[in-house]
Amino acid sequence: MLTPHKIYVIGNWKTKPATRVEALSIAKKSTFEKDGKVEVVVAPPALFLAGVQNILGARCSYATQDSYWQAIGSDNAELSPAQSKSVGCTYAIVGHSSRRALGETDQDVSKKIHACLENNLIPIVCIGESKRDTHGKYIDALKNQIQASFAGLSKQDFEHIIIAYEPLWAIGADATREATPAEAEEVRILIEKTIAEMTGHIPIGKVTIIYGGSVDTPADVEKYLASGMRGVLVGRASLDSEKFNALVTAAQNYS
Ligand code: PGA
Repeated sequence: MLTPHKIYVIGNWKTKPATRVEALSIAKKSTFEKDGKVEVVVAPPALFLAGVQNILGARCSYATQDSYWQAIGSDNAELSPAQSKSVGCTYAIVGHSSRRALGETDQDVSKKIHACLENNLIPIVCIGESKRDTHGKYIDALKNQIQASFAGLSKQDFEHIIIAYEPLWAIGADATREATPAEAEEVRILIEKTIAEMTGHIPIGKVTIIYGGSVDTPADVEKYLASGMRGVLVGRASLDSEKFNALVTAAQNYS
C-alpha cells in the first residue's frame, strides 16, 4: 500500500544512456538522500538495474519501465512483474506513451496493471491526451483512456497504484511546452471524478496522481505540487544527476 501524503520523484531513464559505464556514472553523481517525506524512484534500463542498485542502494526505490501481463511466460524480452519484484523493484511504469505509440492498447495496459497488483508491484500508470483542443475533445479522450485502462479495479486497488498524467505534447524532445499547473489540476480532478464514478466514492487525495512532461527545475516541482499533484515523473532531467538532485531537494523542502 502507498504511504498517504508521500511525494514521489520518479526518474524515467528510458533507453538511455548508451553504456553501462555511463549509467553507473549518473548513479555515482547522485547525491540525494532518503527522507521520510519523499519517495525517490529510479527506473533505469533493466540491463543496468543491478549496477545502479549497487551504487544507490536503499537511498531510492526502483522501477522497471514496462511490465509483462504474466508472472512467467513464453514471450521474448518481457519484464515479468514477479521477476522484477525478485530483483528489488517496488514499482513498474505501465502504459508509457512510448509503449502506446508502438501499439499498446488500453486493454493491454489494463492486463499489465492487474498482473502488477497480483504480484505486489505498484504500477505507475501513464495516461495523457495527444493534443489539446478548445471543444473539450481531450477530456473525452482522457475519460475513455481512464475507464478502459482501469477497468475492473476496486476502490482498494487504487491504494496500490500511482497515476501519472503525461500529456503527449509535453513529453520528450519534441514537447511544445509543459502543462500549466491549471491544466494539470483540471486533469487531476477529472481522474479523481472518473475513478470515483467507476468504483464508488473515493475520498479526495486517496488516489495518488503525479505529473510528467518536461519537468526540469525545482520551480517546476513546486508548481505541480502546489496544483495538488503528489509528485513528478521526470524523463530527460533524470539523466542529469545535478538536475535530478535539485528536483529531489525541491520536493523535500516543499511545504
Ligand atoms: P520528459 O519525459 O521529462 O523528458 O519530458 C517524461 C516522460 O516521458 O516520462
